[in-house]
This record gives sequence, structure tokens and C-alpha cells, in this order.
Amino acid sequence: MPVDKSQQRIRRMFGAIAPRYDRMNRLMTFGLDRRWRNRTVRSVPTDPVEPVLDVCCGTGDLALAWAGRLGPNARVVGSDFTHPMLVRAREKTGSGADLPGAGRVFYVGGDTLKLPCPDDRFQVVSVGFGIRNVGDTLGGLAEMTRVCRPGGHVVVLETSVPRIPVVGGLFRFYFNHVVPLVGRWVAPDPDAAYSYLPASTAEFPQGESFAELMRSVGLEEIVVRPLTLGSVTLYVGRKPG
Ligand SMILES: C[S@@+](CC[C@H](N)C(=O)[O-])C[C@H]1O[C@@H](n2cnc3c(N)ncnc32)[C@H](O)[C@@H]1O
Repeated sequence: MPVDKSQQRIRRMFGAIAPRYDRMNRLMTFGLDRRWRNRTVRSVPTDPVEPVLDVCCGTGDLALAWAGRLGPNARVVGSDFTHPMLVRAREKTGSGADLPGAGRVFYVGGDTLKLPCPDDRFQVVSVGFGIRNVGDTLGGLAEMTRVCRPGGHVVVLETSVPRIPVVGGLFRFYFNHVVPLVGRWVAPDPDAAYSYLPASTAEFPQGESFAELMRSVGLEEIVVRPLTLGSVTLYVGRKPG
């Protein structure tokens, strides 16, 4: 049976884990998530003053990575539909003198399937570990592409299952057995958010299948870059024009 990605379930799940989400990320990825986000914000050429939108921004780590890369003139917007995640993002942005992008990100509530933005607005539209959770993958990608400027880029960072057989087996064991255990320990969650993670990753299109989805919403020059033996994949597409 396909994983339940109803809006209600997704919001409840991320709302419940919001206060511990960052700690879980660091633990589960052995701190590699920061490196992946840094790779993501360096994957496309962009002028520091060009606006960037990070959808499904959660607690803001990818939006902050953009602001850190683009410097003092950065114009970065993060959007998400789970209020407690945005609360955490705003706290980090407001307080964190140690965070390179702090103070340069503006957060808005918004559904990725119906972004509150005009067409062709952002030079880069990104999503980190978010598109897998959007109820309609193609609809989410189409919306990201709509608000991207012609000639701009849509950038997606997402979990994937390594293709190398032995590595894939080890990864599945870690993901299916260790991650939910660590998850329950750090964030007891009635909706089993960290069982959702392996289940949703297993059924999600990856590699060339995901690239095909990007093409089908009109993106071109698709680059697929597996990171850390393919446990996550970075996808970049350009909007024609
Ligand atoms: C796994 S978190 C990713 C957070 C962040 N991007 C990161 O890199 O850590 C997924 C986020 O996607 C958000 N999300 C899922 N579906 C959404 C939708 N349709 N519209 C807006 N946000 C959505 C959730 O609220 C959650 O904050």
C-alpha cells in the first residue's frame, strides 16, 4: 500500500518532531546533512542578489545554507506549511549569530502545491528532503518550475537507495532498522515519523526516473549527482528561456 502523504498526516508528523528535527538529522546522517546542503547551494551559478526560494524549508537549514553562500546581499525566502517547523526556523534565523546566513532569510507559510508567488519570480527554487513528502510529486515540481525564472534553476536534494548491491543492503538495514530505533529514542512520535522515512524513500522515484519527472514539467539540462554512495541524490534542472 502506498505511504499516506495526506496533508493532514504530513503536517501532524513534522509538527510533532519539529523541536528535535535538527538533532535527529545530525545523528542519523552522522553530520553529513550539512555537507550535502553545502554541495546543493554550490550546484548552480547564481548572482548573490538574485532571489532564491527554498520550499518545504522545515527548520531552515537549506535556506540558511543559501544565505551563507550568497552573503550579505542575499535574498532568500523559505516556505513550508508546518507552523512549528517555521517557528523553529525563525528562532534560528533570529538568534543565531553563529549561523552564517542568520538574519537574511524571510519565512512564509505556504503549500508547495500552491505557492503564494507570481510566475517567474526566483532565480533558484530549491527543495531539500521535502519533495518526497509532497502529496503530488509532479504537482510540486510543476509549481517550483512555475515560480522559477526562465534561465533559472530548480534544485532538488533527496534521499535515495544506493544502487551498489552490498552498499544498498547495508543502507536498507540501517534505514529500516537503525533509523526508526534512533528516531523513537530521540523523538517518541505516535505517528512513527522515522518509519515513514524508509518507507517513503523506498517507493520514491530516484535517479533517471526522477530526472524524467523533472523533464516532464519542462525542465532541461537535468544533472543527476549521487552523493555519499548514492544515499542521497542531488538533481539540478534549468527552466528554458
Ligand atoms: C524532511 S523536512 C525537510 C526540511 C528541510 N528542507 C531540510 O533540508 O531539512 C520536510 C518538510 O516538508 C514540509 N512539507 C511537506 N509537504 C509540504 C507541502 N505540500 N507544502 C509545504 N511544505 C511541505 C514539511 O512540513 C517539512 O517541514
